[in-house]
Amino acid sequence: MAAPSCLALLATCLVLQLATAGGDGCSGFGNLFTAIAENSAHGSLVARLPVAAGDAGGATLRLCLAGADAAWFYLDGRSVRLNVSDGRELDREELESPVLMVALTCTEDGFSPVEYRIIVQVLNENDNRPHFRGATVFTHNISELAAVHSVVFSAQAEDADGDTLMYVIDTASPDARFFRIDLPNSGRVVLARALDFESRQQLEVVVTAVEMNTKERFNASARVRVNVLDGDDQYPQFLPCTPRAHRGLTVCTSPVYTANVTEGQLQGGPLSFSPGSVYAEDGDRGLRAAITYSLLADQESSRFHIDNTTGAITLLRAVESSRSTPAISLSVMAAQVNDGSKFAVAQAVVRVLAPNRHPPAFPRPSYRAFVPAGREAALLLTFGGRVLALRAHDPDFAEGVNPRVRYSLSPGPNRSHEPQLFQVMPNGLLVARADHLRPAQSYRLQVLARDEESGETSSTTVELEVLWPGQAAPRDPLGGGAEPPEYGGGWRGGLGGPACSSPPPSSSSS
Ligand SMILES: *[C@@H]1O[C@H](CO)[C@@H](O)[C@H](O)[C@H]1NC(C)=O
Ligand SMILES: *[C@@H]1O[C@H](CO)[C@@H](O)[C@H](O)[C@H]1NC(C)=O
Ligand SMILES: *[C@@H]1O[C@H](CO)[C@@H](O)[C@H](O)[C@H]1NC(C)=O
Ligand SMILES: *[C@@H]1O[C@H](CO)[C@@H](O)[C@H](O)[C@H]1NC(C)=O
Ligand SMILES: *[C@@H]1O[C@H](CO)[C@@H](O)[C@H](O)[C@H]1NC(C)=O
Ligand SMILES: *[C@@H]1O[C@H](CO)[C@@H](O)[C@H](O)[C@H]1NC(C)=O
Repeated sequence: MAAPSCLALLATCLVLQLATAGGDGCSGFGNLFTAIAENSAHGSLVARLPVAAGDAGGATLRLCLAGADAAWFYLDGRSVRLNVSDGRELDREELESPVLMVALTCTEDGFSPVEYRIIVQVLNENDNRPHFRGATVFTHNISELAAVHSVVFSAQAEDADGDTLMYVIDTASPDARFFRIDLPNSGRVVLARALDFESRQQLEVVVTAVEMNTKERFNASARVRVNVLDGDDQYPQFLPCTPRAHRGLTVCTSPVYTANVTEGQLQGGPLSFSPGSVYAEDGDRGLRAAITYSLLADQESSRFHIDNTTGAITLLRAVESSRSTPAISLSVMAAQVNDGSKFAVAQAVVRVLAPNRHPPAFPRPSYRAFVPAGREAALLLTFGGRVLALRAHDPDFAEGVNPRVRYSLSPGPNRSHEPQLFQVMPNGLLVARADHLRPAQSYRLQVLARDEESGETSSTTVELEVLWPGQAAPRDPLGGGAEPPEYGGGWRGGLGGPACSSPPPSSSSS
């Protein structure tokens, strides 16, 4: 008897003793189509072979399962059962094809073998969760100029079961409000609000992929870090600028640069500006475009040269007179070299100073002064009842009068208590609140003269004696005439109102 032809590789065979009515015991079979769920247990029934017709006799059938997929099955009488074990589960996702095919060969003694097919579809179960490819933390670079409503990145997760996935932004994630997903199946993340590199350079958001068509609705999340890249959206700024809040924004206001020049003089080299050199920077800190400087053309701008890369300003022609041109105002423009439409303009004021060789000076280091106590304000007097007028002398000026000199009282020990008792007027006259003074008091006042142009100062002391109401100022013990300039000789008393009568006993100690 010839060996049955079930010697194919991976064949599992079974000899079946059948009570058939002589021959053709294999004819009861046919091709079988069936299905089994993945992950089914060992021994699960896959198919039951039909009983051959005309059951009598005693034929012996030999059944074999063969083919590449045969190892998944075994024969148990007339049943085809699943052959799996721990570590060798029937996993649809691991199979090359979700359909298994085995050949069933039936051989009956004396007949040639008959071959049938058993086709088993492996049914899917939701035994896989979605997952993001590679990592669970992703980084994306997005320009701050990215348009709102545009797709800025795409989240893609996989599901081995082939389940339909839907993507959502986790609203609890820190920067969820910046992003949106309009088409949940696409995973395309849309920018929901404008980015601003100047305020935020990094954002973080969590995207979750959820199974849509399963009852388990497994999900997976990925953390997305977004680096906001600087775009050219800022203009140059002059420094040091002053930040100011304006409608929720911080606005950087340009400084006014100031420098001094002396009339009729050309100093070598660039002008020295305050509060610092003329300097601007690109507001896009991530880009720092190169800056070029220029002067806006106006009346006096041709007098100056500006270095287009450093911003240094040089005076080319001296200014003839500080009287006719006390100051020159320049408009300095800083523009991006790569985009001239991005610029800023700041003012630079060049003050023209008169030449200054001498400080102002008071003719005397101290003066004697008198004022009668009274009911109102009174001018301080000097010997002989003449009005005391202090005047600092400045030899830089033809008549010794520097119009930029300002007088002030420096707070002395007496003044800290009642600072308003005395005042010095721009013309050098001193006024006292005579109603707050008591006879026989004495005060020492320090008067400062300051050249507002050069900043130079000089000081003198006024020794003041308070007289009784109506009391006359003493005569100059040295005979008079040596006192500084005075007003209207013989002017006595207060600034209006009758002088008090009843002269008290003299208390002056001249
Ligand atoms: C099940 O398959 C394993 C490995 O392929 C094999 O060793 C074993 O004999 C099979 N079991 C049966 C009952 O056929
Ligand atoms: C983001 O930008 C940085 C530096 O600019 C670069 O090193 C990195 O590769 C970029 N990442 C991506 C995802 O483009
Ligand atoms: C993801 O699954 C977890 C539990 O498995 C659940 O708590 C969470 O709400 C799910 N997230 C989403 C967005 O469905
Ligand atoms: C700066 O000035 C030089 C000549 O003084 C000129 O060659 C150069 O093109 C200028 N640069 C810019 C950016 O204007
Ligand atoms: C003012 O100060 C001078 C000297 O410092 C002192 O002699 C005088 O008593 C003071 N006068 C008053 C009213 O305090
Ligand atoms: C210019 O001169 C004024 C005094 O007239 C002085 O206060 C100021 O500091 C000077 N400015 C500079 C930049 O030197």
